[in-house]
Amino acid sequence: MSIYLEGAKAPVDSEITAFDLEVTGSIPEELEGRWLRNGPNPFGPVDAEAYHWFLGDGMIHGVRLRGGKAEWYRNRWVRGRDLAEKLQEQPPEGSSFGDSGFSPNTSVIGHAGTTFALVEAGTTPVAMKYDLETIGYDNFGGTLPGAFSAHTKFDPVNKELHAVCYAYPDILDRLQHVVIGEDNRVKKVTDIPIEGMPMVHDMSLTEKYAIIYDLPVCVDLDLAIAGDPFPIAWQNDRQSRIGLLPRNGQASDIIWCEAPSCYVFHPVNAFEVSEGQDENKIIIDLCRYERVFQKDLKGPAGDTPSQLARWTVDPATRTVSEEIVSDMAHEFPAHDPRTVGRRHRYAYTAVGFDLGPTYRTDMETGEVLFHDHGEGRFGGEPIFVPREGSTSEEDGWVLVCVNDRMGSPAELVILEANNIEEKPIARIHLPQRVPDGFHGAWVPDSVVSPDE
Ligand SMILES: [Fe+2]
Repeated sequence: MSIYLEGAKAPVDSEITAFDLEVTGSIPEELEGRWLRNGPNPFGPVDAEAYHWFLGDGMIHGVRLRGGKAEWYRNRWVRGRDLAEKLQEQPPEGSSFGDSGFSPNTSVIGHAGTTFALVEAGTTPVAMKYDLETIGYDNFGGTLPGAFSAHTKFDPVNKELHAVCYAYPDILDRLQHVVIGEDNRVKKVTDIPIEGMPMVHDMSLTEKYAIIYDLPVCVDLDLAIAGDPFPIAWQNDRQSRIGLLPRNGQASDIIWCEAPSCYVFHPVNAFEVSEGQDENKIIIDLCRYERVFQKDLKGPAGDTPSQLARWTVDPATRTVSEEIVSDMAHEFPAHDPRTVGRRHRYAYTAVGFDLGPTYRTDMETGEVLFHDHGEGRFGGEPIFVPREGSTSEEDGWVLVCVNDRMGSPAELVILEANNIEEKPIARIHLPQRVPDGFHGAWVPDSVVSPDE
């Protein structure tokens, strides 16, 4: 059996719609929209020996909030072509890059009126209806030249959506930095020549730069030749580096900087420093693993835990210095979305892949506060939602799906960001277990309206 098919990671086998959910406490009336979360949930029997956690069919869980009420819960598989066939349903609209039939399983976002299920490494985004029914593959109206990514960065000032994408083996020799406009159309693509097929899971954004992570986790040729469906492994001999791509520049303008030997699935945020001792440097907060995909080739949980670190990048010397801010296990980082690419103070994290609280770390002082969800309960990826009209990073809520190792139904818990240790202001009782998964979003109705 695989640890990625058991216990809290075991898939659920049905799709549920439930209305008027029971709530303990009170939901802030300002929260009008959907909490959504994607994750792998293989349909039907799977070969447990061969199963890789990153390859299960995507399933989105969603809760709609309005007027202080939790109006509905839905969970729906993302109907990629292959899954639609297995379900004996009509195929989704459109087709995917590389003729992929995969169901994106890694994240879900709302952008410019559309909900998208996303995955890296080739499959085109899948557009979803408000009620989480699948529409189909959507390559931004034919403007996306290659693959996309599970992780995007939305610039809150100019409203651009950025991603760093790859699609081995269809595109072997380069990454692509893609910028999407407010019209859901690609407005800029930069080809970035790269060797060795690194797995580039996420990116960072500052006001001037898109930051490329070129780290020593790559397609492993021996595994690929042996037919491994996920031939990704740690590469001992590869130098870590990050690339600073000027947002208005080309690949030849990239400033490559040597970085610590590690892997980063998820940065918290990055920003440029304009004064003080770090003037002209770039700060990146991130969750870093000493090793991943070295011993455990079926998922990220079996090598080393991730630590919360601050990298200080000096473009002049092309160097990166590292400070470990907290050596407890931190993963699934979140921060105030109004500070993307700008100075932030707080990082919200989960423990990662096992039991644990929700952390709030002050990245300036290193103080770590946490919310203990109770015995046998663990919090998934936190999402920070600012209170509308506020300007303080402390003024908002943290939404987190809390699971119970004993198999009780999950809860969507709402914490006050500046009182994270206190009891939740609302616990929304979901009608079933929500398997451990990956990434989600708070999608306000002002971004994707119920009518679209
Ligand atoms: Fe991720």
